[in-house]
Amino acid sequence: MFHQIDLDQIDISTVPPLEEPERQYYFMAKMREVVQSEAKRLGRPLRVFNLVVGCQMNAKDSEKLLGILKEIGYVETEQEEQADLVVYNTCTVRENANQKVYGRLGYLKRLKQVNPSMQIVLCGCMMQEPNVVATIKKSYHFVDVVFGTHNIFKLAELLYTRQESGSMVIDIWEGTKDIVEDLPTQRKYAFKSGVNIMFGCNNFCTYCIVPYVRGRERSRDPEEIIKEIRELVADGVVEVMLLGQNVNSYGKTLAQPISFAQLLRRVEQVEGLKRIRFMTSHPKDLSDELIEVMSQSKKICRHLHLPLQSGSSRILERMNRHYTKEQYLELADKIRRAVPDISLTTDIIVGFPGETEEDFQETLDVVRKVRYDSAFTFIYSKRTGTPAAAMEDQVPEDVVKDRFSRLLKEVQQISAEMSSRDTGNVVEVLVEGINEHRDGYLDGRMSNNNLVHFKGDPSLIGSLIPVRLDESKGFYYMGTEV
Ligand code: SAH
Ligand code: SF4
Ligand code: F3S
Repeated sequence: MFHQIDLDQIDISTVPPLEEPERQYYFMAKMREVVQSEAKRLGRPLRVFNLVVGCQMNAKDSEKLLGILKEIGYVETEQEEQADLVVYNTCTVRENANQKVYGRLGYLKRLKQVNPSMQIVLCGCMMQEPNVVATIKKSYHFVDVVFGTHNIFKLAELLYTRQESGSMVIDIWEGTKDIVEDLPTQRKYAFKSGVNIMFGCNNFCTYCIVPYVRGRERSRDPEEIIKEIRELVADGVVEVMLLGQNVNSYGKTLAQPISFAQLLRRVEQVEGLKRIRFMTSHPKDLSDELIEVMSQSKKICRHLHLPLQSGSSRILERMNRHYTKEQYLELADKIRRAVPDISLTTDIIVGFPGETEEDFQETLDVVRKVRYDSAFTFIYSKRTGTPAAAMEDQVPEDVVKDRFSRLLKEVQQISAEMSSRDTGNVVEVLVEGINEHRDGYLDGRMSNNNLVHFKGDPSLIGSLIPVRLDESKGFYYMGTEV
């Protein structure tokens, strides 16, 4: 367990150990010395600014990066201009995410001209693309450290290498079989936390870049997962979100295979844990056993994110999703029968190559039949290297935009209707924080992932309390503590 490690006890006068995580403890101790002497010179602690975009995996990775940085003496700042160290943890799932990073780098270049000792670290999914790294090497000389998704545990070592070498450090791994445990993390919330249960993805949906930038699927040992959750609970966490690109295939490749449903049963037994969520479920691997566990569970939240992507069986086949429209609808029905109060949410892509108006109508049909509580809708983005990028019949932009706005309208209308169905009920909510728009109000999250705003004392943050849902505002409720 990391918090049993005392960096002061590490002998940094010798050569670094080869074993992980001991090697990283050594470099954290080394870097702490560097950071302490710089802080002394400046007469203030060194500050880090972290930008994180993308999915929950990236959010979790950033907590690990900040955990290491805190250990070596950095304090977090919200002001990028005042930072001594800037860390961008990037996403590349759609092209516009990349454009934003290049835009921000232009801004950082100017900041670094004013403050030459500022260090810039780029990491995450976008860095796993060889053309991105080539561009950074060629046109962004002021960047200090570049690494990808497989070696984030090495942050302290890479910062130290940069310190010693005086030039840009690039360390990108193509993949890894290993999972380094027992490193520090800095949780964003005291009362809830993401927990990685697996890394990578083997599905190769034809539009998606994630398998290329996150590598092959690797499941974490269930013992390690349970140990981490126990420690989190001992530290005040009441809700965990189990994270994986396809949690339904968890455990299949372990030496002692275990199903996701079996893992959930074990997590449920952790005493003191109140709520369990998970992301993301691929429809093709969602088992009857999982539905049964969900229907029996007292802790698993009444929410399932079940990405549809398209309602057309023809497009689903071209997407390599391994289910048809009919199978998806049947699955949604089965889940609703077993867990009637469940909220279903989804992801939908419009404008996949070859999508016709008829295909799009099939998507609208599924949206109307399933009636999602909410849906993330995306315009198809061409990702170089994926099979779909090479497909010939790309859909013209104006057609895609028109379909996108029609889909959005439908989704929003249904979502507003669905989200108001609990009006008048008293539900248990986890109080997550102070409401940013109304003085004296708090935000509570319901089991089905909807939000309620209600008057209350900030001391309630982190606790589970009953709240009456007085009025639906479409995307959230106004409520009263009871
Ligand atoms: N593993 C998760 C999704 C990860 S990416 C799953 O399989 O559901 C999150 C969402 O981004 C996807 O569900 C998909 O809807 C969207 N997405 C992925 N690649 C995309 C692309 N090339 N263009 C547009 N949207 C994309
Ligand atoms: Fe991408 Fe498909 Fe893997 Fe999800 S399951 S990360 S959409 S390849
Ligand atoms: Fe983006 Fe990487 Fe997640 S590409 S969506 S941050 S896995």
